[in-house]
Amino acid sequence: MPRGHFITLEGLDGSGKTTQIKRLAAWLERRGTVPVVTRQPGGTATGDRIRALALDSRSAGLAPLTEMALMFADRAQAIAEVIEPALAAGKTVLCDRFTDSTEAYQGGGRELGSEIVLELHRLLCGNLQPDLTLLLLPSLEASLRRARRRNERAIAESGTDESRFEQEKDAFYSRVWAKYKEIAEREPERVVLIAGDLTIDEVHEQIVEAVAERLIAAAIQGDVALIGHGWFNRAIAQSLSRRGWRSSRRTFGSGPWSFIALHERKP
Ligand code: TMP
Repeated sequence: MPRGHFITLEGLDGSGKTTQIKRLAAWLERRGTVPVVTRQPGGTATGDRIRALALDSRSAGLAPLTEMALMFADRAQAIAEVIEPALAAGKTVLCDRFTDSTEAYQGGGRELGSEIVLELHRLLCGNLQPDLTLLLLPSLEASLRRARRRNERAIAESGTDESRFEQEKDAFYSRVWAKYKEIAEREPERVVLIAGDLTIDEVHEQIVEAVAERLIAAAIQGDVALIGHGWFNRAIAQSLSRRGWRSSRRTFGSGPWSFIALHERKP
C-alpha cells in the first residue's frame, strides 16, 4: 500500500484556511479521494482539551515554553492517533495547521526562535514532514481585521472564547507573519505561498493547481501519469501544459468509471 499524501494549511488567524480546507476536501472527494481532515490544536479527544486550555483567554499568564509544550503534546497525540495511521493506510490527510504554526507563533511571535521548535519536532514528532504546505498569507491588516471580527461573532453566538491569541498586539502578529515568510523562503519545495488579498475563488484555484501538480507528480511513471477519471480537468490540463505536459482523456469500456486522465510529457 503506497503511503498517503500529507498536506497542511497554514496562515494567520483570519487568513481563510478553514474555508479553503473544506473546499479542497470537497474538490478531492469529487475526484474519488476522500481525505482525512483534521486540525491543530485539536482533532483528537485529548487535543480538543488541550485546545480549550491553550486558546481560552482565561489561561492568562501561560509561559511561552508552556504554550509551546502544549502545542507539541497535542501534535504528538494527533500523529499517533490520526495522522500516521491514515498515511500508512494510503489516505490523503489535510491538516489545518502543523509545526509551521509553532515555528511562526511560538518561534516568531513569542520569540522562542526556530531552533528549539525544529528540535522538538524531531524529538516528539519523528520529524514528520508534510508533502505539501499551502501557506495563505494575505496582508497583515486584512488578516487581523477578519480574525477579530470572527472572534467577536463566536463569543456572541456560542459563548466560546478562543480569543487568547486574538488579544495579542499587532507587533506579535507581524513577527508571526515574518516568520511564515521566512519558512516559505527556506523551503520553497514544500511550501507554496499564496500571497496577497485574493478572493476565496482565486485562492481555491491556486490551491487546486498546487495539489494537482503534486499528486500528478507522485503518479508519474516515466513520462506518463495515469490518474482516476475525475482528474481530467481543464485547470489541471492548463497548469500541466505550462510545464510541458499534454493531457487527454482515454476511454476503457463503458460506464462512469470507464475513463482515466492521461498526462504525458510532450516529446
Ligand atoms: P485556529 O485553529 O482557529 O486557526 O487557531 C488556532 C490558534 O492557535 C491560532 O491563533 C494559532 C495558535 N497556534 C499556535 O500558537 N501554535 C501552534 O502550534 C498551533 C497549531 C496553533
